[in-house]
Amino acid sequence: MHPRYKHAALIYDKALPVFSFGAAPRIHTMVARAVSVRPGATIVDVGCGTGLMLPRLRDRVGPDGTVIGLDMTEPMLDRARQRVTRAGWKNVELHRADMADFEPGAPADAAVFVLSLSAADPARVFHRTLGYLRPGGSVVIADGIPAHGRWYHPAVNLYAGFRAPFVGSDLGRAAEIARLARAHLVDVRTEVIWAGLYTVISGRVPPKGDERDDS
Ligand SMILES: C[S@@+](CC[C@H](N)C(=O)[O-])C[C@H]1O[C@@H](n2cnc3c(N)ncnc32)[C@H](O)[C@@H]1O
Repeated sequence: MHPRYKHAALIYDKALPVFSFGAAPRIHTMVARAVSVRPGATIVDVGCGTGLMLPRLRDRVGPDGTVIGLDMTEPMLDRARQRVTRAGWKNVELHRADMADFEPGAPADAAVFVLSLSAADPARVFHRTLGYLRPGGSVVIADGIPAHGRWYHPAVNLYAGFRAPFVGSDLGRAAEIARLARAHLVDVRTEVIWAGLYTVISGRVPPKGDERDDS
């Protein structure tokens, strides 16, 4: 279990808006909009934490769909379980697992990573996730990916680098996410928000026979 998140679970929902300068609800809304699924689909919320994304993802798949939340930190997951029990959702499954090893029982239609991929080994996790998504499946990633191109981005990246150890992230791993998305997904879209502090990347698993370069 990641010791940082073990202790963070108690205050996470209140601390996130502070650490994110209020960006968190907007990120969650953007990710829910960007995920491309039909009612009845299965979405995996990878690194679901306390389950803040779960209601929005559940809205996307409807009562006949399934949302699978996974996280390796038991106290975070426990909060997510309480959320699910309180709401009485029957189509939300929660699993304690490392995202680099997780395998759902059946192919899924989408995977979302909200502020979680840069806490792991992105290349390993990408490989694993693309292994269980259907061809054409939707992938959405929101993370603190270093931004470039504006005069203020160096200052934003400096703040992100200072904050990274406190939130379990790593700027090098975060930068790798953009490269992996371009190498392994098609129809890639990138939206930079909050002055470049966060980036939302969405794309699709290539259809069969159209696999991208595996570098
Ligand atoms: C910053 S929190 C984000 C939680 C949630 N996605 C949200 O939007 O609020 C990152 C979460 O990723 C989880 N995490 C980090 N590395 C992981 C891994 N290798 N496998 C599964 N979960 C992991 C942590 O336990 C933590 O709950």
